[in-house]
Amino acid sequence: MTDLVTLDLGERGYEVLIGDGAWTIARRLAAVTPDRRYAVMVDTRVLQLHRDFIRDGLADLDIAGDPIEIPEGESAKSFGLLEIVLSQLLDRGLERRDAILAIGGGVTGDLGGFAAAIYKRGIDFIQVPTTLLAMADSSVGGKTAINMPQGKNLVGAFHQPRLVVADFAFLETLPRRQLLAGYAEIIKAALIGDADFFDRLEYSNRDSLSALHLQAHLKSAIEFKARVVEADERESGTRALLNLGHTFGHALESESGGALLHGEAVAAGCALAFDYSVRLGHCRENDAHRVHEYFSLVGLETDLSRLQGAPYSAEAMVERMRHDKKNAGGTIRLVLARGIGDAFIDDAADEADLINFLKDKAQ
Ligand SMILES: NC(=O)c1ccc[n+]([C@@H]2O[C@H](COP(=O)([O-])OP(=O)(O)OC[C@H]3O[C@@H](n4cnc5c(N)ncnc54)[C@H](O)[C@@H]3O)[C@@H](O)[C@H]2O)c1
Repeated sequence: MTDLVTLDLGERGYEVLIGDGAWTIARRLAAVTPDRRYAVMVDTRVLQLHRDFIRDGLADLDIAGDPIEIPEGESAKSFGLLEIVLSQLLDRGLERRDAILAIGGGVTGDLGGFAAAIYKRGIDFIQVPTTLLAMADSSVGGKTAINMPQGKNLVGAFHQPRLVVADFAFLETLPRRQLLAGYAEIIKAALIGDADFFDRLEYSNRDSLSALHLQAHLKSAIEFKARVVEADERESGTRALLNLGHTFGHALESESGGALLHGEAVAAGCALAFDYSVRLGHCRENDAHRVHEYFSLVGLETDLSRLQGAPYSAEAMVERMRHDKKNAGGTIRLVLARGIGDAFIDDAADEADLINFLKDKAQ
């Protein structure tokens, strides 16, 4: 069965199709964008693993021609590759009324979305996310970007897709580690603003990632993100709550030198945000305990001393946090919590206290 979530953003609004069969149902895409041509961008690994499935879907949609292959990995989100993609779009004679269809994880989606945002001053694009992280997070909300030598996602644009097609058939080939990393973003959504959703996650227990529960959990996470994006599309306020776990997480991810996947770092980062909220007296200890327990239950490590890449230096982490691009006014900005489902923004964290906290946690 395929579920549907709608983002109500006026003329920029769109639907997210979730579950088995979404790729087939994407024929409706033809109705969303009639009489136009598509340039298909696809992650090389995804193309290898799902060649027939992709070909059949494209044939259903009357899309012909070779796709533009995007090499797998974060390095594809570069100015160099963006230029190559834009050149190929020009060589194919793509016009302003035409569109890009991006099939892959967050890397292909971010690159394809940014190319769509700037090609001929902006054309439409469709996201076909193939990782759980891309389904739960990056394909929805309209943030597109490439990386610069100075840091990740520093050049980009807000550009909403016209449709998101999250077909679970792609997940069958996704390595378990990647699946879990994406699942961290689903848990994050519940922790930020939906205590009932977190109850449902706990209730599904060890079966949380079974096909039966995963679709319902993914739908809840996308619904949650949709409401946040509708309220604050360009992150001038509440959308920043979606960064729960990300200030600690980015510091961990960078310090790990590649040992941690983004979602693994976010899982540990969420647990740290809850622990730090307890330390500051904002949150009950039992809530932080539940957060640790659930992450561990599904197989995501939250203990700083046991995390891949440990030991982590408290000073080095805070130094990274000081340069986080989400900061404003020269102080460290954290998303903290009053409890499960009740996150808030703290604009001026105390650096010395953070170092002491992280030293305690690293032991
Ligand atoms: N735009 C946003 O709002 C937003 C939000 C979160 C993350 N991001 C970005 O998303 C990116 C991370 O996304 P990701 O984790 O999807 O990374 P990714 O696109 O690099 O995919 C991870 C790996 O999985 C492989 N893969 C993809 N689909 C597969 C499948 N179905 N089967 C087997 N292998 C598959 C890819 O080839 C790659 O090696 C980062 O660049 C991050 O900055 C963007």
